Amino acid sequence: MTYSADPGRYSGMIYNRAGHSGLLLPAISLGLWHNFGGVDTFENGRSIIRKAFDAGITHFDLANNYGPPPGSAEENFGRVLATDLRAYRDELIISTKAGYAMWPGPYGDNGSRKYLLASLDQSLRRMGLDYVDIFYSHRPDPDTPMEETMMALDQAVRQGKALYAGISSYDPDQTRQAAGILRQLGSPCLIHQPSYSILDRWVEESLLDTLEELGMGCIAFSPLKQGLLTNRYLDGIPEDSRAAKPTGFLSKEQVSPETMEKVKKLNEVAMNRGQSLAQMAIAWLLKDRRITSVIVGASSPGQLEDSLLALKHLDFNEEELKQIHQITGR
Ligand SMILES: NC(=O)c1ccc[n+]([C@@H]2O[C@H](COP(=O)([O-])OP(=O)(O)OC[C@H]3O[C@@H](n4cnc5c(N)ncnc54)[C@H](OP(=O)(O)O)[C@@H]3O)[C@@H](O)[C@H]2O)c1
Repeated sequence: MTYSADPGRYSGMIYNRAGHSGLLLPAISLGLWHNFGGVDTFENGRSIIRKAFDAGITHFDLANNYGPPPGSAEENFGRVLATDLRAYRDELIISTKAGYAMWPGPYGDNGSRKYLLASLDQSLRRMGLDYVDIFYSHRPDPDTPMEETMMALDQAVRQGKALYAGISSYDPDQTRQAAGILRQLGSPCLIHQPSYSILDRWVEESLLDTLEELGMGCIAFSPLKQGLLTNRYLDGIPEDSRAAKPTGFLSKEQVSPETMEKVKKLNEVAMNRGQSLAQMAIAWLLKDRRITSVIVGASSPGQLEDSLLALKHLDFNEEELKQIHQITGR
């Protein structure tokens, strides 16, 4: 059936400015790392993407290697673009990345100019796009000069194949260096994409302060700790969950008794707030104004619907924050 986007799609979403840029991103973005690959059911992924756009999620986050097989999430997203979203291209922020192993030989991995620019061309072909909105260096490469990686991002922007440059999983020193080079080149770094959740707090040490000082946005990935910070594993490991799937990046060992003890206590705090644990985990990140957006994953439209309700209750009282602090030990 022909898709027509919900006319009310912009009424319920919050849009935050990415650092000192002109770009607003939805407080909740959708990531296509899992559940959108060649091994997954295409129509399910398509319904999640439609549900997202209908709810004001304008930002879809991809990478060259998302699948499996690598590249298939971009191909599937390209199909949905062609059938459902083509008319809305100017309402969409589409990002992709290069930095992890993608093709054989010495030029399909890491941070060389050779790899990044060839990869971006491949991503554009797979998605059927002329340009992406954000092109990321997916991870720092200690063996490639930072100048080379940043010059590749700058060139992508100058060529019009990307509108903004981003970095992911760079530590604070690397972030400062990358941002300095990009500023000099004339393509300021828009945003940093680190992992961040109630159970993964490394960015609090100094990355968030660094980003604020540099005027960069911050978009948190795996805000639900790949599903651990939801009701998914409260009664064991369901067969259709990421931890049970052979292609999932969450191992059964990560669903450990120690983690689940914390998760169950956090779930009680969430229930007392009248929220699902997923909603509380998202709200907890968004209470910090330095967080531009959180990129959630979802394996069904219903999960996304649940996560979106986080926006209805974003504030925390002192007692709730204290309880979360006591449970997580920080
Ligand atoms: N830059 C990087 O290096 C990097 C790395 C990782 C991720 N990312 C980005 O971040 C995105 C999100 O990562 P993620 O998928 O790990 O995110 P996540 O939001 O932490 O976890 C998503 C998983 O949680 C479960 N879930 C989601 N909403 C739920 C709800 N309301 N109730 C119950 N369960 C729920 C689902 O698990 P089930 O599948 O088990 O149902 C879903 O697949 C990725 O798609 C990607 O775009 C970037």
